[in-house]
Amino acid sequence: MAQIATNLELARNELIAGNLIGFPTETVYGLAGNALSDAAVLKIFQTKNRPAFDPLIVHTHSIEEIRRYVLSIPDALAELIANFAPGPLTVLLLKNEQIPDIVTSGLDRVAFRIPNHPVALELLASLPFPLAAPSANPFGYVSPTTPQHVNQQLGDKINYILDGGACGVGLESTILGIEHNHLVIYRLGGVSVEDLQAYAGKEILVKDHSTSNPAAPGMLSSHYAPKKKLLPDYLLEHSEGNLEQVGYIGFDKIRADIPKKNQLLLSPSGDTNEAAKNLFATLRIIEEMSPSVFYVGIIPNVGLGRAINDRLTRAISPV
Ligand code: TXA
Ligand code: MG
Repeated sequence: MAQIATNLELARNELIAGNLIGFPTETVYGLAGNALSDAAVLKIFQTKNRPAFDPLIVHTHSIEEIRRYVLSIPDALAELIANFAPGPLTVLLLKNEQIPDIVTSGLDRVAFRIPNHPVALELLASLPFPLAAPSANPFGYVSPTTPQHVNQQLGDKINYILDGGACGVGLESTILGIEHNHLVIYRLGGVSVEDLQAYAGKEILVKDHSTSNPAAPGMLSSHYAPKKKLLPDYLLEHSEGNLEQVGYIGFDKIRADIPKKNQLLLSPSGDTNEAAKNLFATLRIIEEMSPSVFYVGIIPNVGLGRAINDRLTRAISPV
């Protein structure tokens, strides 16, 4: 198992030695390594069992730092970064030669983000390189939102997990880029579409990349699959079976037709931000519960609810 602690010096030493660490951010925990080192980035792909075609997000602590590694930042994106960073927003920018091709899986654009987490920012500011960090889970599995989640799945492959507590946002960052002068969201995430549109003052296209050639391969339709069978709760309307053995994940209200002990709510107070924060931990908790099938309720499709529904849809078994 890896050591979980708050010592920044230990984290720095691991990274400078070319090793990977568990890295706290406000969205989910990352598996971080030196983004400028081919060897460290290769280790990230190997440790996660991640296909080489799925590029990594690079993390740094300021927009000035981002400028060192990209050809330019279009004004529209610079304004959004100025407003939403540090925060759960990732932008796609044309990379310069300092970013190794392995980071972007050979694509021209590199994904950059400034995490809004004091420990992450302090670490990044103290390092002579930015950090490449995908979510710290084996490929295709639920993202970790506590240091213990990282240890459960990758603890035998890394030495150190920097403890930043439980993630405040709980969903991965929103990925944004520009195509033909239009802002495009490639992954729904921790900044809501409404907030981005309100600030940009115009409609932003949300691309569904669950096709065979995704620009953000994390959008593959079977991503985030937990080991239990998840089904949409509308199927319950037609079910005449015995519901004693099934479970339910709801938004704010439990159901009368399923045993109370088999039900979990994402936000009893009906708050989509709270639901986002609880989502991935809930998908882990159900693995320890007795039902083998869980029905999933619809979350209001507003604010972070939209990104939650996106993740749940990908986690739900094909029906
Ligand atoms: O909140 C987050 O974004 C977390 C924390 C650790 O920062 N990271 C994260 O990384 O979710 P990961 O690797 O699990 O997801 C990154 C997504 C993938 O879907 C990947 O395909 C997409 O970003 N991506 C990265 N670079 C890209 C690029 N150059 N072009 C298109 N998509 C890219
Ligand atoms: Mg991921």
